[in-house]
Amino acid sequence: MSIEFKEKREGSVYTVTSHEGGKLTGTAKAISDGLEWAKITDVSVIPEYRGRNLEKELIGHIGEALAGQHIFALADPELYSVYEELGYLRSKTSFTYDYNVTHETFAEWERQGLFLPEGYRFEDEFYPRKSFIDNGNVVKKEKVGEIRYTDTLEGASIEEINEVLSKAFGGHQRDLKKTEEVFRGSQKVEIAYDGDSIVGVARAVTDGESEALILNVAVDPSYQGFHIGWNIVVKLSAQLPGFFIFLNTHPGAVGFYNRKGFRRNRTAFCFSPGTMPPEISRGFHLPAGYRFPDEYQN
Ligand SMILES: CC(C)(COP(=O)(O)OP(=O)(O)OC[C@H]1O[C@@H](n2cnc3c(N)ncnc32)[C@H](O)[C@@H]1OP(=O)(O)O)[C@@H](O)C(=O)NCCC(=O)NCCS
Repeated sequence: MSIEFKEKREGSVYTVTSHEGGKLTGTAKAISDGLEWAKITDVSVIPEYRGRNLEKELIGHIGEALAGQHIFALADPELYSVYEELGYLRSKTSFTYDYNVTHETFAEWERQGLFLPEGYRFEDEFYPRKSFIDNGNVVKKEKVGEIRYTDTLEGASIEEINEVLSKAFGGHQRDLKKTEEVFRGSQKVEIAYDGDSIVGVARAVTDGESEALILNVAVDPSYQGFHIGWNIVVKLSAQLPGFFIFLNTHPGAVGFYNRKGFRRNRTAFCFSPGTMPPEISRGFHLPAGYRFPDEYQN
């Protein structure tokens, strides 16, 4: 009998299931914004089908369903080599935040090897802050007035959101339609205003049950350095109480998350569409086959 795979998408949730003779044998799930970013949230196979490469097929199929996107996964150590065979690399730049989890629980998870210690830095990492994104000759505000935060897109100008994102990420003009699609398709948003002007944004996609992915955290460069970015992230996370919140950043912002309750993942893998020059990839990924000294080698 041969294994059959079925794909389904409902909102931000992608599911691939495997079946043999009508029996459900495995599942892979992911959350995604449908365009750019995705996280695999579950890969499970029923006991009698384990060790037969079905996990690899499920991960491969969900990767096909998410083609063209950056795909992240927090991997079970037994699946590290499976992810690697499929072209995933270990990510250095991803974090987890759980609004409800206590420090003790996180400490225990750290002991279990799921997270790196707060403040951990890899050799050669530029940290603390060094310019990664060139903001040109932006004039920084000397002070800002009261910033208003909202959790809705109602009344928000997508053009302004797009401007903040474009400016924050180095002035490269983003596609307005894409920005509109991903923001409207996100279940949670957080928008910061100075008066009527949007000065900071972020969004999250979620399965509505337990998993969430924070995306597009950005503050207008002239407003950076006034804790707006941090407030946005905390307020957005507070909209997702009890959720397992994942976010990926870039080497220049690792230090922003690496000290205030976001935990740096140790088991994260990432599949990037296209190729990255090695000098860029080095900041985001560990070398192929990398294992920490206490990890089993396979
Ligand atoms: C990263 C970003 C969102 C931070 O927003 P911000 O409003 O400037 O940051 P905040 O003022 O809230 O910073 C909070 C703290 O983190 C520190 N911090 C800010 N950016 C940092 C960085 N890139 N690296 C290390 N530390 C940083 C601040 O110095 C501040 O420290 P303090 O609490 O000791 O005063 C903003 O710089 C930005 O939009 N950058 C470009 C887009 C980007 O990189 N987004 C993140 C992708 S996930």
